[in-house]
Amino acid sequence: MIKHEKFEKNSILLLLGTLLVVSIGGLVELAPTFYLDTTIEKVDGMRPYTPLELAGRNIYVREGCYNCHSQMIRSLRDEVERYGHYSLAAESMYDHPFQWGSKRTGPDLARVGGKYSDEWHRDHFASPKSVVPESIMPGYPFLADRQVSTDHLQDLLATNRIVGVPYTDDMIENAMADITAQANPDADTEGLLERYPGAIVRDFDGNRRAVTELDALIAYLQMLGTLVDFSQYDAEAFQR
Ligand code: HEC
Repeated sequence: MIKHEKFEKNSILLLLGTLLVVSIGGLVELAPTFYLDTTIEKVDGMRPYTPLELAGRNIYVREGCYNCHSQMIRSLRDEVERYGHYSLAAESMYDHPFQWGSKRTGPDLARVGGKYSDEWHRDHFASPKSVVPESIMPGYPFLADRQVSTDHLQDLLATNRIVGVPYTDDMIENAMADITAQANPDADTEGLLERYPGAIVRDFDGNRRAVTELDALIAYLQMLGTLVDFSQYDAEAFQR
């Protein structure tokens, strides 16, 4: 009798055997990534999102921007030439949920920070065709009229802390002050910049009277991919 005859004549046994073999493959590939230190490389510059950026990120998720935009530059030559350094795991370590995406109707946004001016973004969200005539992106003109919601801001930071983002008590306590300060160039931003080094302080939407959803979304986009200083990053040292 051939040894595998038992499996071939009993579909349940075959199913169980298949599951066993496939899960061994899966475990060998996945399990090490949970405890190897090298899964997330250590890089300088990563910090938690400021309250304004975090609010912008929530709007990004709410509006489903990930349905058309990825945030993961693969290590392929054409991608690196078009978008910049390939994405590092560390760059999305504070993303819950991550925004890697699986569809690119529009370009990857992982390094869109600093690529355009705030004015460009304002025009683009008001009417994408006004700046890119062939664009098929929908407009989001209402963002400029809506004040950013701060009802659950502190809870939002606290919840992120539960899943591992290192928000301190100080950051949570000052979240309300920080969200208004970041969109106001005249504000006292010393505390904000101490808590979130390198945060961009600007009136992103050009409207001094209110902190709008447009402020938050542009603040988020303008920091994307800008935290890690790649002139200091040595991929080979990391592999050694
Ligand atoms: C239906 C698909 C679609 C959706 C939804 C969408 N976009 Fe786009 N987006 C595009 C396309 C296509 C382009 C390229 C043409 C252009 O610049 O308008 C683009 C371009 C962009 C750019 C310029 C990128 C670059 O490097 O030139 C930004 C920034 C952007 N989108 C942000 C967003 C944000 C934020 C949202 C959600 C509020 C969003 N998009 C929703 C399709 C989409």
